[in-house]
Amino acid sequence: MNNEKIIIANWKMKLSLAETLALAENIKTKFQGFSGATVGVCPNYISILEVKEILKGTDIKLGAQDVFWEGAGAYTGEISADMLVEAGCEYVIIGHSERRKFLMVNYEMIHRETKAVLNNGNLVPIVCIGENWDERKTDRRDFVLFDQLQQALSGLDLVGNQQVVIAYEPIWAIGSGTAIEPSEAEYAHKIIKLTLNDMFGMKIVNNNFKIIYGGSISSKNVKGFVGLENLDGMLVGGASLEADEFYKVAKALVK
Ligand code: 13P
Repeated sequence: MNNEKIIIANWKMKLSLAETLALAENIKTKFQGFSGATVGVCPNYISILEVKEILKGTDIKLGAQDVFWEGAGAYTGEISADMLVEAGCEYVIIGHSERRKFLMVNYEMIHRETKAVLNNGNLVPIVCIGENWDERKTDRRDFVLFDQLQQALSGLDLVGNQQVVIAYEPIWAIGSGTAIEPSEAEYAHKIIKLTLNDMFGMKIVNNNFKIIYGGSISSKNVKGFVGLENLDGMLVGGASLEADEFYKVAKALVK
């Protein structure tokens, strides 16, 4: 696997269709000539096809914010991995903490979704893990990360160069305006890496996995995260809603 950093925008449910398309246009313009990192955007489902048209001819990747584990059938409201690929997606966020909180998504479901995406083979799953504030303050973070990874990924086979991105998103930092201390992120990423090494072996982890951080990253604090060990990129929420700001975050990471 190449060592290129990866920066993914998660636009959540923050923008209307018109706002999403305008932002995609601005990002397309802003990122002209940008190189040195993989950049992707995850719009809401209804915008995906039009964003794909806008981003045609650029290197910006398209992703979705969720996926269902079945391939097709009577599953009202759901979208399969095949459909996402058909729509032009190359990435998909799985098990975001907001879905864990508001939709009761659990790690058994996250496991099934990840398995479906790996079986599809044409999508990169971005599997979200991270502790809440109570777990952090009572020193249970390491176990929580270990447990979430075990539940999400145990028994899954990676074929060839299939990529998997693990997004470490401490729930208490998301949308708070304050990212965690870079040293704390570095520590958590090390725990994640060691757990993955245990599960898959170092060779596969080095070749197939990336570990990225998410939670209140902005152009103001991103510099503290540059050059951290085991930090392969960012999953960016609020700071990705404005093309200039998202560009500054991406630019800082490739320097
Ligand atoms: P914020 O960057 O807005 O804190 O969101 C992070 C996030 O949840 C990305 O998935």
